[in-house]
Amino acid sequence: MSISLSIEINGKKQTSKVNANVLLVDFLRDALKLTGTHIGCDTAQCGACTIHINGKAIKSCNILAAQADGTKITTIEGLTTDDKDMHPMQQAFKNHHGLQCGFCTPGMIMSALQIIKNDNDPSDASIREGLEGNLCRCTGYHNIVEAIKAGAKAMQNKG
Ligand code: FES
Ligand code: FES
Repeated sequence: MSISLSIEINGKKQTSKVNANVLLVDFLRDALKLTGTHIGCDTAQCGACTIHINGKAIKSCNILAAQADGTKITTIEGLTTDDKDMHPMQQAFKNHHGLQCGFCTPGMIMSALQIIKNDNDPSDASIREGLEGNLCRCTGYHNIVEAIKAGAKAMQNKG
């Protein structure tokens, strides 16, 4: 069964037809070509598919596209308005070598922004706790924590 889906995605309103059983992550990647959101497990364990719905970090493999009707979604592609400037958190991951293969990185960054939203000067322990739902197969957690601390400071300085 096909349903009509109306969402705001990265600041743009979008209306689409989608089958009722399509996962949100598949809709984002296949229909909207927003392939920055990754699929690492499909069982809500790895966090590679993390996006923001109405400002809250959510694993997009864990909900149906139909459930997102009427929401505002931000994906990794929506963090910057042009291709030139990175978001301060993206820049911090780059500066602090917070990525190796990069597969987990979009999800890590979307979760990092949720952590900063809850506490704009998080401790190492609270960052690690906030990343419990995000797995890095390259095990680069130390640099990821450093990157998030630096990103938090950069975001504070930017105001
Ligand atoms: S693909 Fe969604 S949590 Fe792994
Ligand atoms: S950088 Fe490779 S999975 Fe995290």
